[in-house]
Amino acid sequence: MSSAGTPRGLFVTATDTGAGKTIATGVLAVCLRAHGLNAGVMKPIETGIGVGVLPDSDWLISVAPSAVPRDMIAPYRLQAPAAPLIAAEAEDLMIDVQRIVSAYEALASRHDCMLIEGVGGVMVPLSPGFLVTDLIHLLRLPVLIVARSGLGSINHTLLTVECLRHRDIPIVGVLFNNPTAPPDNADRHDTIRTILRWTGLRLIGELPYGHGLPQTWDRERSRLMAHIDIQALLESVGFRTMA
Ligand SMILES: Nc1ncnc2c1ncn2[C@@H]1O[C@H](COP(=O)(O)OP(=O)(O)OP(=O)(O)O)[C@@H](O)[C@H]1O
Ligand SMILES: [Mg+2]
Repeated sequence: MSSAGTPRGLFVTATDTGAGKTIATGVLAVCLRAHGLNAGVMKPIETGIGVGVLPDSDWLISVAPSAVPRDMIAPYRLQAPAAPLIAAEAEDLMIDVQRIVSAYEALASRHDCMLIEGVGGVMVPLSPGFLVTDLIHLLRLPVLIVARSGLGSINHTLLTVECLRHRDIPIVGVLFNNPTAPPDNADRHDTIRTILRWTGLRLIGELPYGHGLPQTWDRERSRLMAHIDIQALLESVGFRTMA
């Protein structure tokens, strides 16, 4: 493996909440590790910690274990199942982005590359006047977009791409996902083709639907990994395999 240039990580965003950022980040982390890179994960802000669902950071740490303290991987774990700004206000706190950047830098110094799972989509407010896009700017990382493969995805994905390009945020490509079982007559290949043609973005892969995820991870993991274009992924995080 040799270095192909600067980016040593990706900010994994999505068209919206529930599109599959956590599953995608887990798959990408295990793919990178399988290729010999010590990939780290981070979930800077998560909400709904108190609702009894396994928090994203706990799941990510279980699939990509690391010796670093959890506070560094998940500096903001907010109780309320609400948008970050609202969940933070409910706890009378303000998200301090500098704390996130410091945790990221500490993690980056301990790993070959980092995968940062975003929160919701790109236009989610984190603190007054500060959006996810502003956090991406501060972290100086390129973005990977997780988009649903099915109907309705073209509009959401093009909006996301337009927003990022308008802010001069580099996009490495799109990872399509099927968080629900596609209907038999699904048009998803037309959807994928249309999005790629319209945006000119690189296809990083298409994750199939895996029944029962995340509980079925051990069974589904290899099948999911097989759908990642590993060359595209390695180049996205700044590496290339030796020819
Ligand atoms: N390929 C897939 N096959 C089956 N289920 C999936 C797949 N991808 C995601 N899911 C399921 O869909 C739900 C949403 O996925 P996930 O939690 O990864 O989304 P997210 O974008 O991280 O959401 P959030 O914005 O809440 O962080 C989860 O229950 C997850 O297990
Ligand atoms: Mg998530």
